[in-house]
Amino acid sequence: MSVEWTRDLALEHEELDHEHALLFARLDAVSALLDTGAPAEIEQAVAALADALVSHLAAEEALMEEAHYPERGRHKSAHELFVADFLRMRAELREEGPTPFVASWLRIRIPEWLRFHIRVNDAPLAAHLARPHPGPQPRPQPRPQPRPQPDDLRPRKRRRRRDGGRPA
Ligand SMILES: [Fe+2]
Repeated sequence: MSVEWTRDLALEHEELDHEHALLFARLDAVSALLDTGAPAEIEQAVAALADALVSHLAAEEALMEEAHYPERGRHKSAHELFVADFLRMRAELREEGPTPFVASWLRIRIPEWLRFHIRVNDAPLAAHLARPHPGPQPRPQPRPQPRPQPDDLRPRKRRRRRDGGRPA
């Protein structure tokens, strides 16, 4: 059974689409090894999947921060919940090998989570990233000063010094 990134998952965001396709390719490599691969090979393929996953989620979270994506808190929580489950699966793989639980995670649950997450969480993020973002806001201008009135323009009478202007 192959696990594939399909065109209907495209978000038209080059970086996200590339990374999502890579995740499916790594999942497919793991899936191919599950029945016949040696435990060390399976562990190595899962490690490669974990690396791609961690760097993808971090890159996505950096994009959300940069773009001040309003849903970034909720989106990041979805990543954290998924990573916690992924780590449980990985611990079982290390301790007990590719059990049916591990195999169903790698072949069914993770691909399903990814498809769901791309459609429900990543698609609105990609739409947000595609919109032009306002640049720095203009600095507030100083308030205009009142224009001088004709009276202000008349030469002022010199104030007579008390000492009559003689040098001291
Ligand atoms: Fe995401």
